[in-house]
Amino acid sequence: MRRILIVGAGKMATNLCYNLHRRGWEEVWIANRTYKRAEVLAQHFGYKAIGLDQVLPEVDLVVIAVRDDVLRDVADRLRLQAHNAIVVHTAAMRPIAMLDRFARCGLFYVLGSFSSERYTDFAELPIVVEGNSEAVVGRLKALALEFSERVYELDLQQRKWMHLAAVWANNFTNHLLGISQRLLCDASIPEQIMHPIIRQTFERALVTDPRDVQTGPALRGDVETLRMHRRMMRSWQGGSYAALYDLLSLSIARTHGVSLQLTSTGGALSEEE
Ligand SMILES: NC(=O)c1ccc[n+]([C@@H]2O[C@H](COP(=O)([O-])OP(=O)(O)OC[C@H]3O[C@@H](n4cnc5c(N)ncnc54)[C@H](OP(=O)(O)O)[C@@H]3O)[C@@H](O)[C@H]2O)c1
Repeated sequence: MRRILIVGAGKMATNLCYNLHRRGWEEVWIANRTYKRAEVLAQHFGYKAIGLDQVLPEVDLVVIAVRDDVLRDVADRLRLQAHNAIVVHTAAMRPIAMLDRFARCGLFYVLGSFSSERYTDFAELPIVVEGNSEAVVGRLKALALEFSERVYELDLQQRKWMHLAAVWANNFTNHLLGISQRLLCDASIPEQIMHPIIRQTFERALVTDPRDVQTGPALRGDVETLRMHRRMMRSWQGGSYAALYDLLSLSIARTHGVSLQLTSTGGALSEEE
């Protein structure tokens, strides 16, 4: 499986190109709605660009890496020459049945957070595959192993849970780190002051159950500190993040069996401040 067509020129497609190029793949074509983007990407890696509506080159594998909600439309538009090509998409939350007009189809999902500006090597990343036959799964696993040793075969339901867990582990934590950084910035405190604790948090989470190492005022039921924090959150950024602070504090308390109330008078966070 050495000839590959990538459909898309966004973050996923860019990182696919980077990883293929790193491993010496030469016969790679890129097709994209905006031809110019395909051209720029292809030129960067010495690959070839092609219009999305053209008859596509004969390849062994087609990777459709476009926005999830246009996946079916894009797949239906493709004019493939090789009828035995394996066609995969890269969307964890979408069934492979979206590609059922192709005899051999599947999924090739790299569990990572990608950007077009900074390339990420897939070597350390899990790669999830699914196929509509054992033969397809076998081919996709073999391909995935060329990039990474962490290869998993997961069905749609498992992938959906994995994706949800990734939103918590990555998207939400990243959002929370952004809030922390802006709080420091607004108080004229160097953001580096938080780096050791951030590092410690993530390093510890990899080797322990995060619930066992939870700390903070909500866990301790520290009413006075919670009250002060809530007041500060209401006064910061027009109170935009105050509700989030309350929700997370409540969730920590509930998870650890600490009694905490937001609304009843006399509850820890209940006083109208
Ligand atoms: N980014 C990640 O971290 C990540 C991680 C794992 C998996 N994925 C998966 O990778 C896939 C692509 O995501 P991405 O992050 O690379 O997205 P992206 O950077 O936003 O790129 C979107 C791609 O979809 C194309 N597109 C958008 N609307 C279209 C339409 N109406 N018709 C045809 N093409 C259209 C865009 O073409 P134009 O250039 O013409 O706009 C572009 O090539 C998704 O399935 C996503 O779930 C992403």
